[in-house]
Amino acid sequence: MKRIPLLLCALLAAGAALGQTARTVLGPYLQEVTSDGFTVVWTTDRDAVAWVEVAPDDSTHFYAAPRPRHYDSHLGRHRISRLHRVRVEGLRPGQRCRYRIVQQAALDDRGKTRLGEVSGMDVYRRNPYPAATLDPSRPQTDFWVVNDIHGRDSLLRLLLGDAARERPDFICLNGDMTSSMESEEQLARGYLTTLSRLLSPAGIPLFFVRGNHEARGSFADRFCDYFPSPTGLPYYTFRQGPVFFVVLDGGEDKPDEDLAYGGLAAYDAYRQQQAEWLRGVIRSDAFRTAPYRIVLMHMLPADGRSWHGEQQIGRLFVPLLNGANIDLMLSGHYHRYGLYEPGTRGTDFPVLVNSNSDRLCVSAAADGIRVRVIDPAGKALHEHLFAPRKAAR
Ligand SMILES: [Fe+2]
Repeated sequence: MKRIPLLLCALLAAGAALGQTARTVLGPYLQEVTSDGFTVVWTTDRDAVAWVEVAPDDSTHFYAAPRPRHYDSHLGRHRISRLHRVRVEGLRPGQRCRYRIVQQAALDDRGKTRLGEVSGMDVYRRNPYPAATLDPSRPQTDFWVVNDIHGRDSLLRLLLGDAARERPDFICLNGDMTSSMESEEQLARGYLTTLSRLLSPAGIPLFFVRGNHEARGSFADRFCDYFPSPTGLPYYTFRQGPVFFVVLDGGEDKPDEDLAYGGLAAYDAYRQQQAEWLRGVIRSDAFRTAPYRIVLMHMLPADGRSWHGEQQIGRLFVPLLNGANIDLMLSGHYHRYGLYEPGTRGTDFPVLVNSNSDRLCVSAAADGIRVRVIDPAGKALHEHLFAPRKAAR
């Protein structure tokens, strides 16, 4: 008779302990990588305080010394949230390190916050994850591009299955990764869990280019929460190796007044605002002095049959980009491969459009920008070498 209450007590104790632990649901994945830092993003199944512990990239065990903690803090307090974005900065260009994520459940105890159990990545049986800052002094950069996945997680696994072995510097998600943004669970199921599992153990970061389908759905306003950038906006720049990258957000494809947007669209003004920002970028020394300039944008400049969004891109962005020594624009949106030579889209630079089922493997080095289009079976479908533009003049 006495054994039943004891068993019950043990089960209740285990349940209480379980209830005080925040478990990782999504991630971690690397965002907002710059030459002096990076941001680690992940989510937990309940509110928690979270931090990242960082160790140097050396032969010491993670447990060899106390590792500095970097918290997700806001207004002087450690943030309590299910979504965790921890910025690690103050690093050198090209600096490598190792990290683990840690979280502590935040419990509501009659109006006061009490912190529960600490849990995090296992760095005893498994290696901590690597991370590295960008390095503008490197003579070469290699990166991959996928786009228009529309939640086809199984395709993504085929396209990026070799990433950990081949180690591109980063993966560019060039828009429309799902058909709309509806919830964290939908993003996780559609692509983010797969990206985290394939890329984070190898320290490969993501650079997200917002597509028109990321502008749709009840979760669309959360885009920058899950994909932070150096500007805090979906348009931003970064430099890796010899390339200065300009990430643009083309917005929606139809007119703002279209029935599809339910009165919520304001993309004309958004693109105008972005054009003013782009004008400043093009004047900057960092842009002008880089050996190469690549524009990453989901939609591309208009031709005669284009919808409103592409026409606006042609009117607002192209006059600024022409004459600015752009070497290449990489786009998606059409779900089919295409190479548009200078002049065919009103641009003085080539525009390469990736299909919705292949990946681009891009390598920029002294001899030019080499782009290979690789299908899910690993077969090369197209290959181009864009010669250094400045040298050609
Ligand atoms: Fe699209």
